[in-house]
Amino acid sequence: MATASSIAASIASKTKTKKKHFVAQKVKLFRASDPLLSVLMWGVNHSINELSHVQIPIMLMPDDFKAYSKIKVDNHLFNKENMPSHFKFKEYCPLVFRNLRERFGIDDQDFQNSLTRAAPLNSDSQGRSGARFHTSYDKRYVIKTITSEDVAEMHNILKKYHQFIVECHGNTLLPQFLGMYRLTVDGDETYMIVTRNVFSHRLSVYKKYDLKGSTVAREASDKEKAKELPTYKDNDFINDGQKIYIDDDNKKMFLEKLRKDVEVWINPGLTLTKSLILPFYSPLLYSMSPSPSLQFLAQLKLMDYSLLVGIHDVERAEQEEVESEDNEGDDEGESDGGIGTPPDSPSNTLDSTKPLSPGEFDPTIDVYAIKSNDSAPRKEVYFMAVIDILQHYDAKKKAAHAAKTVKHGAGAEISTVNPEQYSKRFYDFITTILS
Ligand SMILES: *[C@@H]1O[C@H](CO)[C@@H](O)[C@H](O)[C@H]1NC(C)=O
Ligand SMILES: *[C@@H]1O[C@H](CO)[C@@H](O)[C@H](O)[C@H]1NC(C)=O
Repeated sequence: MATASSIAASIASKTKTKKKHFVAQKVKLFRASDPLLSVLMWGVNHSINELSHVQIPIMLMPDDFKAYSKIKVDNHLFNKENMPSHFKFKEYCPLVFRNLRERFGIDDQDFQNSLTRAAPLNSDSQGRSGARFHTSYDKRYVIKTITSEDVAEMHNILKKYHQFIVECHGNTLLPQFLGMYRLTVDGDETYMIVTRNVFSHRLSVYKKYDLKGSTVAREASDKEKAKELPTYKDNDFINDGQKIYIDDDNKKMFLEKLRKDVEVWINPGLTLTKSLILPFYSPLLYSMSPSPSLQFLAQLKLMDYSLLVGIHDVERAEQEEVESEDNEGDDEGESDGGIGTPPDSPSNTLDSTKPLSPGEFDPTIDVYAIKSNDSAPRKEVYFMAVIDILQHYDAKKKAAHAAKTVKHGAGAEISTVNPEQYSKRFYDFITTILS
């Protein structure tokens, strides 16, 4: 286990060897103002270090989907003012999530850097209200505080989810689940899950929507609208006359992905063995298997998920950048977002010698980005993916269903339906808004 002095020593040595630009990032190590974030940073550092000594297994075993690793730290003396001296950190299914990260093209070292080099930032940019959100300091990952029910639900779906990711080669609009943890500080347990950010780590979003395909009670409240970046909903989208201008090829690819993600399971002919041969994934083997049975959400009876849509306006962003440079003239090195990967990192995906021009993105990082087409009135970039999938169709939902039916009348379109109806309505709605 890391001692205080070894952590301090490693900071000292790294600080010395890094260029000036990175010193600022380094010094902040484990100094999150929130003790929970300090523990998260400590835990992710620890977990990735440990995993780097664990050989990648030939195949995942059923037990890996129930496994966890746990560590209890007492009398942690380093950085006492921000770091609790007693805490526990538990990682769920470490081997499964490592495998998922690999399938999503995320290098463990980069993942560790993103989550530990500087404290995660507060964010309310994504998902349903109530949950707490952070992004990694480089904005590549979203850290969501979840409930113990969500953790249980995640365990319920993990095997199927993993199998699905194997089959679609990680090419999905579903959340990319990258790690799930329990943090215990002062006897309080906090659960967190890390996913890839739907939005860009460098292109700002000026408007966002959370779309479910229902128009009942689906508009942003006045309170929401007062926020800096409100989450607008289905009715706002319609009333705004909002359009997503993407070309036919992108549209086709997007909808095909979405269909597989949400549709009812048509061919349940998949067996576990397929998810077990994963690391030696053979295209031949898979091409011989029965017709694709990739449909995911409806089959697992998941619902109430949304399509998160973010819109980047290229000209507007350029203008804002000019304005902010005017205001804080000598505040350098903030806006390029490339600070996530040091130049000497072998897995540097952004060519740091060649900055991207306005509206450009690296599709290996901003995996959900789609450029506007030629007939768009403004040059835009769209970010669209499915969020909030950990909602089971359970008794609670049925009760809500009954309540809404009473409130809006039996004939009213209600947002609480069964998972198959939900997925169909969702898909149909998204199809309409893209045409
Ligand atoms: C991360 O943990 C390792 C061992 O657990 C420790 O030696 C190292 O100092 C930590 N990393 C940083 C950057 O502090
Ligand atoms: C651009 O997108 C809009 C909205 O989906 C569509 O009506 C239009 O045909 C598209 N134009 C091109 C050139 O793809």
